[in-house]
Amino acid sequence: MEKIRILGDHALQLRGKVRISGSKNAVLPAIVASLLTEERLWLQNTPRVKDVFTTLTLMEELGADSELKEDILSIRSKKIISPEASYELVRSMRASILVLGPLLARYGKAIVALPGGCAIGSRPIDLHIAGMQRLGASITLEHGYITAEASRLRGADIQFEKKTVGGTENLLMAATLAQGETVLRNCAQEPEVVSMAELLVKMGARIDGVGDEVIRIRGVKELGGATHEIIPDRIEAGTFLVAGALTGGDITLEKVDPGHLTAIVEKLCVSGANIEKVDDSTLRVIGCPDIKPQDITTSPYPGFPTDMQAQFMVLMTQASGTSIITETIFDRRFSHVNELLRLGANIEVNGDKAVVKGKTPLSGAEVMATDLRASASLILAGLIARGETVINDVEHLDRGYEKIEDKLKRLGASIERLKK
Ligand code: UD1
Repeated sequence: MEKIRILGDHALQLRGKVRISGSKNAVLPAIVASLLTEERLWLQNTPRVKDVFTTLTLMEELGADSELKEDILSIRSKKIISPEASYELVRSMRASILVLGPLLARYGKAIVALPGGCAIGSRPIDLHIAGMQRLGASITLEHGYITAEASRLRGADIQFEKKTVGGTENLLMAATLAQGETVLRNCAQEPEVVSMAELLVKMGARIDGVGDEVIRIRGVKELGGATHEIIPDRIEAGTFLVAGALTGGDITLEKVDPGHLTAIVEKLCVSGANIEKVDDSTLRVIGCPDIKPQDITTSPYPGFPTDMQAQFMVLMTQASGTSIITETIFDRRFSHVNELLRLGANIEVNGDKAVVKGKTPLSGAEVMATDLRASASLILAGLIARGETVINDVEHLDRGYEKIEDKLKRLGASIERLKK
């Protein structure tokens, strides 16, 4: 198991430039969308993160061939050789459920393992399944696997009970090849959903209302190849913005989309950071030594993202006063709290709320990464904790952050990876 060691410093100020990678959550559905066509997709700005490689392994098992050169991924699912996503892969990456829709739509059958437990609370897939049933699929559940079958999906009017990013993406992909019109209501509006819909349109899908809560899809017989640039990772960008604010530093983030970061930027600015839009793809954050407490409540886009909750909590440990952080998207998404307590933070969790009392000096300790964003929060905390922090189980971090140690090192952090 690899570890990360950080030599933290209260007085550390991160300074310099950092280039933000392509979005993990946008590239995964884009890769999977290749199952909808026998032609080739070229995905530019693909991040080299573990979830991408896990998805490519899954795609290979289904019959795709792919090549990643620099940041351009070329992928083709000329023929689907198996409709099955095994438990081993689905367990390690829940987003594997995204193959359900495209496999059903093109191959007429999908067998996908049920994801099971997950470190950030229960993450059911009932809305994905109910949607596929509305499109005419018959679904059975046996031996921990869902089998979905349909000779050809039929368009339907589908109302999501709750906003779901993966559910919207799955149904959107399935509906592109269904017979007739599908209306999806109460859709997730995250930039990653929009990016995927734009890719599908390039592939020949007929979609109205991209980015809206109601999306209309008129099914077509087949889709073709396309070239698509993956949007910048707004969560990686948000993590570096917090790093700048937390250390009173001065960081310029290149290759970002400021329009996707509004909720995060707003909260950081009211907590004292100075964030300037340098141009359409560059943001500069200048931290301020006097951090003000802020309450946040996570919610679907354009609200404050749940994927930034843990990182923002670290910032609030350094604010002068009390902040209340409310997590509304996932239950049990406070696993980072116990680790932050080990570093000296003062946080109390009560149901879906965490009460953070600042300002507490942090001191380095050995901690455990429990999920992807929790790992990022521990790195941030380690940067300003006095002495050595060792983070165990960093494979979670590698799922979604590209070369984070190198990027932080270039900004002045003392951070290294221990290979065993
Ligand atoms: C995606 C993101 C993840 C982010 C999350 C919320 C990817 C690969 N992952 O996850 O990083 O934290 O959006 O922004 O893009 N739900 C149901 N039934 C379902 C589906 C979801 O009840 O069938 C619930 C979930 O338990 C959760 C909420 O809906 O409470 C939102 O989940 P969802 O948007 O589906 O998250 P993911 O797509 O899994």
